[in-house]
Amino acid sequence: MRTMLSITLDTIPILIAPHPILKAKAKPVGKADDATIRDLAAKMLASMYLAPGIGLAAPQVGQLLRLITIDLMPDNKPAPITLINPEVVALADDLATREEGCLSLPGQYAEVTRPARCKVRYLDLTGARKEIEADGLLNACLQHEIDHLEGVLFVDHLSALKRNIIMRRLAKEQRQKRDDDKRR
Ligand code: NI
Repeated sequence: MRTMLSITLDTIPILIAPHPILKAKAKPVGKADDATIRDLAAKMLASMYLAPGIGLAAPQVGQLLRLITIDLMPDNKPAPITLINPEVVALADDLATREEGCLSLPGQYAEVTRPARCKVRYLDLTGARKEIEADGLLNACLQHEIDHLEGVLFVDHLSALKRNIIMRRLAKEQRQKRDDDKRR
């Protein structure tokens, strides 16, 4: 018998770059996807908390759907946000730089410059229209996750030189990790 607990702990593997799905454009979520989306969103949140990370987009778990989960854990308490078909409706003219990482590029971090504020429209899990205005960490996180729906990774905002250094380092670390796993 499946319990509520086993459902909430059901995780889904996160794809590591470079992977063709991470470079593909995601499709809008339709009405027919309702049940799938609830299940997928729950699995994405569980995987995100386990990683641990603060944001995850459906393409990162191999699903080319416009679905994002975010939880910045304010005051160390869970406060998950699930965004279906998110759309950036406004971006600030001024820029902000923050260090970013990504669950699809584990262990890699870089300073990324983006518009300092954004306004995003989306549907929540009940199908209600929502709007969110963000600055700071939430702004960077929203733009980073929505980028994933377009097949864009944070390293794509960097110079080719910096991107290549990170991608080579990631490949090397992943190779080492596979070798270590084999030896265990
Ligand atoms: Ni990411």
